[in-house]
Amino acid sequence: MSDSPLLRVSNLTVALHLEGGTSLPVRDVSFDVGASETVGLVGESGCGKSMTALSILRLIPKPPAEIVAGSVNLSDVDLLKLDSNGIRRVRGNRVAMIFQEPMTSLNPVYSCGEQIAEVLRLHSGLDRRRAWARAVEMLDRVQIPNAAERAREYPHQLSGGMRQRVMIAMAIACNPEVLIADEPTTALDVTIQREILALLDELQAQLGMGILHITHDLAVVSESAHRIVVMYAGQVVEEASVDQLFSAAAHPYSLGLLASRPELGARRSRLPVIEGRVPEPSQEVEGCRFRERCPFAVDRCTEEPPLLEVSNGHRARCWEFERVQREGEWPRVQ
Ligand SMILES: Nc1ncnc2c1ncn2[C@@H]1O[C@H](COP(=O)(O)OP(=O)(O)O)[C@@H](O)[C@H]1O
Ligand SMILES: [Mg+2]
Repeated sequence: MSDSPLLRVSNLTVALHLEGGTSLPVRDVSFDVGASETVGLVGESGCGKSMTALSILRLIPKPPAEIVAGSVNLSDVDLLKLDSNGIRRVRGNRVAMIFQEPMTSLNPVYSCGEQIAEVLRLHSGLDRRRAWARAVEMLDRVQIPNAAERAREYPHQLSGGMRQRVMIAMAIACNPEVLIADEPTTALDVTIQREILALLDELQAQLGMGILHITHDLAVVSESAHRIVVMYAGQVVEEASVDQLFSAAAHPYSLGLLASRPELGARRSRLPVIEGRVPEPSQEVEGCRFRERCPFAVDRCTEEPPLLEVSNGHRARCWEFERVQREGEWPRVQ
């Protein structure tokens, strides 16, 4: 972890209260995001990535979900301790979020320009005219051609890629310190995906914001992230720099993700190599939660491993990490 991170998530634990009982979709999750740093939060669907992201801004559906432990520090303020007015001032202002499907976050009855202007009026106190002018400026900044005209259009008039640009414009309108992007390019085709990733990199270079980029696809963050946090079944199972992860992954799950990774831009993704499924949060597993899918498992894995120090800045939740690194490859099944 860096010395003075912008965002520090510590020991975050989320409970899910359902009819069958209470389970933990997020278990003791910790990571940092520094200024101008992109952290990739990676894992298959159902691993708790979105729950983690939504918890940072206290947007998890409550009930059934509830944050039961941990802290989320933005500089020196614990977002989990703020009152409702306090957290509202942080959302969209100091910490902004974009999602996979912009249509769910954009309001169909307002023009794109109006929606961005509204955010600016709310958080920056700009008057109507100035807010509109700045909204157009923002659309221009996210490289939407003819921004002044496009600002008058409604979300349904735009393509998926353009809508995601509008979402990004809205997210950066108040110059946030941290941008949380939850699968921002998953719904887009590969060419547009690349353009959006390049845009995020460029905006980061201009604005210095920290980015938490959530994806199920390691290839998506391999170029833009500085560090990767791998989540499995509610837990962080590996944390490493991109170089460390790609050259010396220490958790079998990471090796599996690396082996399943399609080339960015490939037309067809390779079949996932990890057999089986992520256990539901309610499913109790003795020991390591990845054990049943793990080709490296040994007897000791019935005892739950902590996050072990692999090297400086590199940690993995695996008793066998040295062997995993030595073998360095997910075993091929013929
Ligand atoms: N509103 C909800 N009600 C019940 N279960 C939920 C709800 N939201 C998430 N979950 C469960 O919590 C787990 C983590 O979900 P999520 O954070 O969305 O995973 P990810 O974003 O990694 O795909 C999953 O098992 C999911 O089924
Ligand atoms: Mg998700």
